[in-house]
Amino acid sequence: MRHNLARVRELMPQSKVWAVVKANAYGHGIAKAFEGLQDTDGFALLDLSEAKVLREHGWQGPILLLEGLFTQADVFDALDLRCDCVVHDLHQVDWLETAIEAKSSSAAHEMTLYLKMNTGMNRLGFVPEAYREVYHRLHAAGYQVAHMTHFANADYVDRSPSVDEQVELFKQTIDGLSGQTSLSNSAAILWHHHIVTCDWVRPGIMLYGASPSGKFEDIEHAKLLPAMSLRSQVIAIQHLEAGEAVGYGSRYKTDVPIRIAVVACGYADGYPRHAPDGTPVWVAGASGLADGQICRMAGQVSMDMITIDITDMPHVEVGTEVELWGQYLPVDLVAQSAGTIGYELLCAIAPRVQRV
Ligand SMILES: Cc1ncc(COP(=O)(O)O)c(C=O)c1O
Repeated sequence: MRHNLARVRELMPQSKVWAVVKANAYGHGIAKAFEGLQDTDGFALLDLSEAKVLREHGWQGPILLLEGLFTQADVFDALDLRCDCVVHDLHQVDWLETAIEAKSSSAAHEMTLYLKMNTGMNRLGFVPEAYREVYHRLHAAGYQVAHMTHFANADYVDRSPSVDEQVELFKQTIDGLSGQTSLSNSAAILWHHHIVTCDWVRPGIMLYGASPSGKFEDIEHAKLLPAMSLRSQVIAIQHLEAGEAVGYGSRYKTDVPIRIAVVACGYADGYPRHAPDGTPVWVAGASGLADGQICRMAGQVSMDMITIDITDMPHVEVGTEVELWGQYLPVDLVAQSAGTIGYELLCAIAPRVQRV
């Protein structure tokens, strides 16, 4: 994470960094992310409970709530925890105005509001026609207001709205208004850093070393390192004769005699149940993981186990180490095989998986 954050700074040297650690730091654990991302300028996340964990770990710097307030009462907790807030909806504007009347207007100065503009993503935020009025309301209530938008297609070259179109609309709309700006996610940092400038960038997935597009080939040369390695071991070996099958539904049938390793990791650990036969799994060589090789999934993923074809690896025995993804096997390759993206696999790691 430390290395990947340094990479963000290399690409966007003029910008401050909101390290995005929502969803338990994309499955890596808030406490671990706090350790690895000490050099960030601020942490961006979703839940007040995660903000509390960061404060308990001693983080004194800025924290941004990426979806802002969910209830009126959240304003007071956010103020207590010294959080900045995204504002994307009129309910939040009402709550923020009312809360400040109830508290004191000086409290408003302690919170920066990131006013979210909908420049084409059409998920959260105020359309440009409504944006300036909301900006003036929040300003009048005494808050510091920053400007923010989110890209829909920073990982595509041919989709509308393009990054250029969204940036243009954003710039036109905030023309003449004071306040800092925040635009780029990982995809924009990696692939549009020459054209998108802003005071604060908001990288998430690239801090964990996975691809914003979901394709490993897109980040192969981006000099990122995987932060998470999911590892387990072989707990049993099966010898199958030609014509036999393995696992639920007898999905994988063999025409020739093969050796199958049963690995202790299943969908209850967060491994994708829909991973098909052929999904890559890294299996240690005779002297460890570093001289390992890719083996292929053979049979349906179970709750606690997967089965892989190790016919070409005669040294494999009970206890042999296996990497499901991470240092030797990019999570994006597993995700691509399973028809999803690295984000989903990383976030889905189950609580029972031991973190070391
Ligand atoms: C508003 C906002 N900014 C930044 C990010 C980080 O995105 P990424 O992980 O693609 O860098 C997210 C993640 O979804 C987000 O919702």
